[in-house]
Amino acid sequence: MGTEPKQLRLAFGANPTAQMSVSWQTEQPLQDPVVEYGETPQLGNRVAAERVSYPYETGVIYRAQLSDLRPAQRYYYRVGSARGGYSRAYAFRTAPSGLQDFLFTAFADHGTTSFSRQNTRNVAAHNPLFHFIAGDTSYANGRQPIWDTYFEQLEVLAARIPVMVCFGNHENERIGEQRIGYIAAETRFAMPNRGQYYDFTVSNARFVAFNSNERESEPQYQWVEDALKRARADRTIRWLIVFAHHPLYGSTQRRGNNSGMIRRFQPLFDRYRVDLVIHGHDHGYERMYPMRDGKAVVKSGNRYRQGAGVVYLTCGGGGVSLYELAPEPTPWTAKRERVYCYLKVHVPVRGALRVEAYRVDNTPIEAFEIG
Ligand SMILES: [Fe+2]
Repeated sequence: MGTEPKQLRLAFGANPTAQMSVSWQTEQPLQDPVVEYGETPQLGNRVAAERVSYPYETGVIYRAQLSDLRPAQRYYYRVGSARGGYSRAYAFRTAPSGLQDFLFTAFADHGTTSFSRQNTRNVAAHNPLFHFIAGDTSYANGRQPIWDTYFEQLEVLAARIPVMVCFGNHENERIGEQRIGYIAAETRFAMPNRGQYYDFTVSNARFVAFNSNERESEPQYQWVEDALKRARADRTIRWLIVFAHHPLYGSTQRRGNNSGMIRRFQPLFDRYRVDLVIHGHDHGYERMYPMRDGKAVVKSGNRYRQGAGVVYLTCGGGGVSLYELAPEPTPWTAKRERVYCYLKVHVPVRGALRVEAYRVDNTPIEAFEIG
């Protein structure tokens, strides 16, 4: 064999209403690799896949971009080749065009533990339009076969729900003494701009993702500022949500507030009135009250006026491990818990944005609303 498609994963293309990227891996190269897809289980369309590779790959990675899809449409698909056999068929959904309520899920610091697997199943069960992992995905740490374990584990989710990522410190790898940087993550995840910094739009929400390891990068900083400015100049955009691995504010034993992140990004997030920033890096759950100029603008309740301040949230309890909390929270912490967690975010056309945080056993941590 060796031609069996494994590690199937979907990602939004630059336009989530019309484009979906499909990736998979085999042990042996395929002749004429394809994705077959269509609006019915009979499929009917096919697109050729291309091989993508990097020097430390552990198999043969294929990727195809489906484009000219219809918005808010269910598509069935399978991957493989006539000679080597096909995967089973899965289905996915494209994003709606125009305004429509939708749901996404998120966490960070994922890993390959039993908690990681349970959390993957948890978010899949909510059937979100997409799932976001805010950095530190496989924890391969240079051991490339761990990426295979990771994507095999992710398939239950990623074969039918697009999974988007921004990079954390663990995507910046070394093998022994050799720095290989982001090459594995860039090749294995099919993100816009190789996953470094990008934005995408669903309904009336603009999502901006960047690589907070490279927080001193001027080109990235300029791009983030421009992306936030464009979002706020766009009358069709109501919600502005940012993903970055490293939190500005936090209170674990191991780390407190990140002065570098604060210096660089707090003024930007304030200026463009970002609604919600989702982080990882601190392994647990910690959420701030809406903040402006480095202070909480309100310090009670769980319903906030949109535009009053930026809500910073760390959901680094994706599954890999947990950190001890510092004895004292930050002065702005609304809720924190040493717990494996995930987020379910309801993005409405009208009314309030609703963020629900859950433990890995699906019991609620908290919920809050902006609007
Ligand atoms: Fe991290």
